[in-house]
Amino acid sequence: MLATSALHWLQLRPRSKVALVALCAAVLVACDDPPAQAGLHVKDAAPVSAEYARYCALCHGERGEGGGADNAPAIANGAYLRLASDDFLLQSIRRGHPGTPMSAFSRAAGGPLSDEQIHAIIAFLRAYQVGAPDDVGVPADNVPVDPQRVERARPTFHARCASCHGEQGEGRTAPTLNNRVFHELATDAFLRRTISEGRPGTEMAAFAEVMPAEQVEDLVHFVRSLGAPNTAAVTAHAGEDEQWAEREGDALVLNPEGRAPRFAPANAYVHAEQVKQALDQGRRMILFDARAVSDWRAGHLPGALPAPFYADDEALRRVPNDGTQIVVYCGCPHVAADRLAGRLRAAGYSRVAVIDEGFYHWRDQGYPLVNEPGTPAEE
Ligand code: HEC
Ligand code: HEC
Repeated sequence: MLATSALHWLQLRPRSKVALVALCAAVLVACDDPPAQAGLHVKDAAPVSAEYARYCALCHGERGEGGGADNAPAIANGAYLRLASDDFLLQSIRRGHPGTPMSAFSRAAGGPLSDEQIHAIIAFLRAYQVGAPDDVGVPADNVPVDPQRVERARPTFHARCASCHGEQGEGRTAPTLNNRVFHELATDAFLRRTISEGRPGTEMAAFAEVMPAEQVEDLVHFVRSLGAPNTAAVTAHAGEDEQWAEREGDALVLNPEGRAPRFAPANAYVHAEQVKQALDQGRRMILFDARAVSDWRAGHLPGALPAPFYADDEALRRVPNDGTQIVVYCGCPHVAADRLAGRLRAAGYSRVAVIDEGFYHWRDQGYPLVNEPGTPAEE
């Protein structure tokens, strides 16, 4: 995937340059920044980042245009990048948005990326920024939430925001607004500007056009008041620590003495409920968590081993190809699992099921989850 998408870009560049020159000549205006979808200003020399392509493009799109996974925002959107400082981006990528498909990518959290690699990704995104950064202050300067403003904004939020962001800001067709990491990082000015000006090219409209500044300000307080839910649903510690990394062949199989589950078909989507049943019945299978390893550490299905969607082929070769039922899941609800399942099927595995509803449905059903206590050592 990495090689092809990089190639794709390389092949596109010369041609789009020609097209651009032709267009500029035709309309006789200078056009450095042809407008593009998702508010992206695709530069003449579109940059390439191997890190971005491997770890982010799956959900945020090849050029950060968003929409690859449910609710993954356009992080290369010009308006967004003007408001998001390097530190905002660094922290968001290091820590992720817990409880959403946005994983913590730092090695300290169990993710795959060093700070150096994260900075390389930020540099890649910055190439899409239009205009100078806006100074939106620092989180420490945020004013305390005013309960009166919150109450005043409630009906507005219900009428104009909840259809996309959810009544509690839990996210529906748009990103969450109640995430604790986002709350710690976003300043009042970041929220004010986002609500007022929107994110051109995305579903997020410029609300200053339809409401007075005071009403926008009330909404800033309302968004701030949206508490992050406590999503801890882990029932036990699995204590797998790092052993899994060394396993191969039969050592990857759960319930080696059990019978195979009866999924029909065995090589497509299955319901979470069927997998729960197969687990309860002690069926023989391999259960893979396709999310970043940081997510697996925080909570995973009992017996699931981490097989992040970005794992290299070497890791996949350790999986026995003897007809054992493989079950893969992620949180998107299944875009990362589909990626991994696709790679396994392409390598000849014939029983690769993907949990259709994904991890968060499993959690919300109250099905069992386990975690790996402690955090991996800092690099
Ligand atoms: C039609 C759907 C829709 C509606 C209605 C909507 N938004 Fe959004 N909003 C979005 C999308 C989509 C994004 C992410 C855009 C992107 O891809 O960058 C977003 C982004 C945001 C963000 C930035 C979040 C972040 O993580 O950076 C804030 C804040 C926000 N919206 C607040 C609001 C408020 C307040 C309202 C109501 C006045 C509202 N939105 C109404 C779709 C919507
Ligand atoms: C499995 C899908 C997935 C992958 C892979 C992924 N993200 Fe995300 N990302 C999301 C989703 C979904 C959100 C919105 C989370 C929310 O609703 O709060 C998000 C949010 C973000 C945000 C916060 C945006 C904002 O408006 O504040 C940043 C920054 C970000 N991602 C960067 C990255 C980078 C860089 C990578 C690669 C290292 C990456 N993401 C990989 C799904 C993903």
